[in-house]
Amino acid sequence: MFQSGALEGSKSEQYAELAGQARGLLTGERDRVANAANLSALVFHALPDLNWVGFYFFDGKELVVGPFQGHPACVRIALGKGVCGTAAATRQTQRVADVDAFPGHIPCDSASRSELVVPLYRGEELIGVFDLDSPILDRFDATDQHGLEAIAAVFTESLA
Ligand code: SME
Repeated sequence: MFQSGALEGSKSEQYAELAGQARGLLTGERDRVANAANLSALVFHALPDLNWVGFYFFDGKELVVGPFQGHPACVRIALGKGVCGTAAATRQTQRVADVDAFPGHIPCDSASRSELVVPLYRGEELIGVFDLDSPILDRFDATDQHGLEAIAAVFTESLA
């Protein structure tokens, strides 16, 4: 299920453990680039079947790529565009089983088949999005969504 030998139990228990590791990694540090970089690396290496994990940050106008693991990606995404811009504009996590069936999906890595994007808000303020891509169709289920939303919240809270 997970790739880290240190994680045990059901998938949701493993996500709870991973969120604890994320908290430990980010505790005492408020720098968003540092925390986004470490969180991307933690998640990319813990979860199987991912080809891209990272952040886009809102610059006041659009989303701009931040720290990530994976191949080089599209730099700027307008609000409302693609899976990322839709998550940011609607404030709803986008869990896309088949990216080819998502109208307006922006292909960055041709290997991506499914995608999960969690919007990052601090109160009313849009911080950006946390984006995960998989080369496997329908890679993310509801447990993945809840687990990754909790990990995204660890990031947002680290900035407070
Ligand atoms: N597929 C995304 C673009 C970002 S990459 O996946 C890294 C989208 O449609 O917004």
